[in-house]
Amino acid sequence: MENNIDWSKLPFGYYPTDYNVRCTFRNGQWGPIEVSQSETINIHIAATSLHYGQEIFEGLKAFRGADGKIRIFRMRENAKRLQESARGLLMEPVPVEIFEEMCIKCVKLNERFVPPYESGASLYLRPLEIGITPRIGVKEADEYTFIIMCTPVGPYFPSGFGCTNICIMREFDRVAPQGTGRWKVGGNYAASLGAGHKAHELGYSAVLYLDPKEKKYLDECGPANFYAVKDGKYITPKSDSILPSITNMSLMQLAHDMGIEVEERHITVDELATVSEAAACGTAAVCSPIGRIDDLDTGIKYEIAKDGKPGPVTTALYNKLNGIRYGLEPDVHGWNTIIE
Ligand code: PLP
Ligand code: COI
Repeated sequence: MENNIDWSKLPFGYYPTDYNVRCTFRNGQWGPIEVSQSETINIHIAATSLHYGQEIFEGLKAFRGADGKIRIFRMRENAKRLQESARGLLMEPVPVEIFEEMCIKCVKLNERFVPPYESGASLYLRPLEIGITPRIGVKEADEYTFIIMCTPVGPYFPSGFGCTNICIMREFDRVAPQGTGRWKVGGNYAASLGAGHKAHELGYSAVLYLDPKEKKYLDECGPANFYAVKDGKYITPKSDSILPSITNMSLMQLAHDMGIEVEERHITVDELATVSEAAACGTAAVCSPIGRIDDLDTGIKYEIAKDGKPGPVTTALYNKLNGIRYGLEPDVHGWNTIIE
């Protein structure tokens, strides 16, 4: 069936597709993989996901390459991270094999929604797991449903690969120092809505969060990790309260492959005055170059991209990452799963 989608104008939003896939854990085991055409779920009004936040999710993309083949990027890493998130909230980890089989099935069933090569769009897979056991006492569920839905998406920040401005504010924390920041838990995003709303109202595309304990070091950037280039090195925060980004992990590897030194370490706020490039990186954000970072509390404005353009390191990394995902460059690290 044909689509009438204007692929190059797609926002990062929900667009209905044909199918989603589901699997439920009950009586101590995962059941069969089910295919659904319904956009809704029917769960108990006392389900733990609704009352006590037992909800975790993932985000990954499938790309149509220059050769017409569809590639899913690093799905095994998302499967492993979902398991970490599950352990964090005492939920049942989804076996890697089930996760991978369901990703492939979801992409195949919705193949007509994988955007064409060079449209700049991709098929975003959104796996989510919820506790479904009814509970009123605060206790984990015994039963879980795992769903993978998908939707075609365009760039997360409207500026795409153009520079975007972000801000630092100390009024809100996204997560606690020993909290859930390292897991992909729905509640983290609920906690970020207030800060994100304020940033958007002020004309910024995201908040650069500081470490919640001391508010001294950079943590992460809205729904993305943060990196900067300093003295030719790729530097990125090391912190227990950020999500270990698969995009950041990939960019670190690519930087290393290009002979760029990589440092994962604390980065203080005032170090921003000494960096030549900065970017937000993630599945949705890819690498979104940052133009200026305004510290709303001190009034200091860090002009990063002085000419308003993405820097050379970010441009090289962005092209390399996309080259691999679109099948233009050899996939030397085995990151792609080609859908046959
Ligand atoms: N940090 C947060 C808070 C995120 O929501 C995301 C998005 O998944 C990332 C970082 C980037 O992670 P990844 O590159 O695995 O998508
Ligand atoms: C992703 O990049 O996959 C994310 O999950 C970010 C999303 C919360 C918008």
